[in-house]
Parts: sequence; structure tokens; C-alpha cells
Amino acid sequence: MTAPKYKWQPSSADIAAHYGIPVDRVVRFDQNTSPFSTDWAPAIVVPMARTLNEYPAASYLPLREAAATYLGTTAEHVVPGAGVDEIILLIAKAYLAPGKRASAAVPTYPLYEIATKQHNAEFLGIERIGPKFEFPLESLGEAAETSEVTWLCVPNNPIGDRIDDRWINAIIAAAKGIVVIDAAYAEFTRDRWVSLVNQHPNLIVCHTMSKAFGLAGLRVGFSVSSASIAERLDAVRPPGSISSMSAEIATTALYEPQRMERRVVRLIKERGRLAQGLTKLGLRVVPSSTNFLLCEVGPSAHSLAEQLMADGLVVRTFPTDGLLADFLRFTVRAPHENDRLIDALWRHLP
Ligand SMILES: Cc1ncc(COP(=O)(O)O)c(C=O)c1O
Repeated sequence: MTAPKYKWQPSSADIAAHYGIPVDRVVRFDQNTSPFSTDWAPAIVVPMARTLNEYPAASYLPLREAAATYLGTTAEHVVPGAGVDEIILLIAKAYLAPGKRASAAVPTYPLYEIATKQHNAEFLGIERIGPKFEFPLESLGEAAETSEVTWLCVPNNPIGDRIDDRWINAIIAAAKGIVVIDAAYAEFTRDRWVSLVNQHPNLIVCHTMSKAFGLAGLRVGFSVSSASIAERLDAVRPPGSISSMSAEIATTALYEPQRMERRVVRLIKERGRLAQGLTKLGLRVVPSSTNFLLCEVGPSAHSLAEQLMADGLVVRTFPTDGLLADFLRFTVRAPHENDRLIDALWRHLP
């Protein structure tokens, strides 16, 4: 069984060079990142930049404590990583191997399948159902009964919905092995999950600094779980995958969640405005609990994405043989950026 390869997104510099446009005209609608500046961060980094001759402390204790305080738990339940991506890879490394199985409802975040197959375990992707992408509760529950790992993305990327608590509990109860809630977008629904972690010794919840906190460039994420799962993940964690500067900035941000919360409120409002603009274009917009919108644009989705890219507007497409072939996904950006997207769609849509 060969693992699907990582697919790198083209860089803004490459896109600008290819289409002959200035790089500052390129807007990333494809990565679910934040439009807000991190102008508060240099004050933290500058004094630190004098001590980069030393390694970061591999325990990352101040970062764990900050994450624990933010989430309402204690440090022994937290494992830090270079983004949730690294945490996903650590979970696969700790729990998957040939002869083992992982399952997920699909479409979902592609790294679950890649990480599973990298360890030569079987990946069971259970398709969501119908035009509303209903959650395949029964089939996923059955798959969880025989899976060492069940991946749940809540809210889901790329659909944007947040499944019901009852379904999450049903999957956790049915699961033979570990259940992972990837809560990368949880700040947009104000979900914290710590009480669930306390109730379920088989649950791992993953949080990131990349989305609502607006710090994707730092590469910091963490898991929250029972202390014994945390020990098992720590045992396969590389000692220094988070730079000292990233750890310091993330620690500060976690103790000041008000900035992030204010920005979430603004993004949610802007999400409504962008959804309205897309609806006025006659497009079907899937209701979203995140900082992005999944939108049905029809069979010309890929050529439309090319035309937008030539304008410097980079959007997310999906495989032409899959459920989302006719869809594009748009990150909610700043109002003037979203206006550029809507204007371009008016020009390019048939
Ligand atoms: C569901 C989900 N999980 C994880 C990630 C990656 O998060 P990080 O930047 O913390 O590695 C993403 C990024 O798009 C995501 O959508």
C-alpha cells in the first residue's frame, strides 16, 4: 500500500512570477489562514533573537502551561508539536502499523489518510451522504469499532460544518481505539472539549495556533488527552521541532486570547457578508462554522480557479473525480480582499 504524496501549494512568489503580477497582489483564499497582521509579535522576538545560539528546552513546559491555562486543563495533558500536522503524524506513529486500521468520514483533512498510509495501516474513508454531505454516523460508528484510530474533524475541513455532540459521543463510545478530534477550527464555535477529555481515556483533541490565533507561520499546535496518551505521544516526539521564537510567541498569544476572540467576532461577521456576496452570484454556499466557505460553482470549478489565480486570487480546488469536483473553498479574508474575490467572480463566472 503506497501512501498518497503530500501536495505542496504553490508559493505566492511562484504565482506572482508565473502570472507577472506583484507578489503583494496575491491573496491566499486557499489555506484558511488569518488576514490580520502579527504586528504585535516583533516586540517579543527582538530580545530573544540574541540567544538563538541555544536549543529550545525540549520539554516546552512554558508553552504547555500556557496551552493548558487557555484550555482549562493542566500541563501533563498537553503535548506540543510543529502544528497540528506534526501531532497528526505523531498519533499515526504511536498508534498505527501494518495490520491496523484508521477511519474517517470523507471528504476531510487529507493528512489523516496520508499519515495512516505512511505507517502501512489501512485507511477506511466513509463518504458523507447526499448534496448536504450528511455525516455517516452509523457506518463510521461501525468502522470505529474495528479501528485503532478514528479521525474526527470538528468543525470539518473542507465542508465547514460542526457535527452534533451526540454523534461525537456515539463515535467515542463505539470506538475500539483512539478517537482524535481535530479541533483546528474550534475557536470559531467556541468549543474547548476539555470536559470530554476528562470523561474519555481514549480521546485526543488537537488545537492549533494557525487558524483563529492567526499564527500559521509559527507552526505550533498541541494535543490534549489523558496523561498516559500524552506520555505515549511525547515518547515519539522529536525534541526540538518548535523554534524558541515560535514557542515564545505562541505562549504570549495563549495568555492573551482576547485579541484572538475579537478577531474571531470580526471574521464571523465578514463570513456572513462574503456568503451573501456569493449567494447573490447565484452560487450555493454551504453553511459554515469556520473561517472558510465551501461553494458550489459548477463543472467549470478548475478553470474558474485558474482565472482567479491569474488575478492573484488563490482558491482551493478539489479532485475532479471526487464529491467536491464542482466546488471551490474560499477562506474568509479582510473585507477589501473579499471584495476583490467577488468582483473577479462577477467577471469570470459564465
Ligand atoms: C483540519 C485541519 N487540521 C490541521 C491543519 C493544520 O494545522 P497546523 O497549521 O496546526 O499544522 C489544518 C490546516 O489547514 C486543518 O484544516
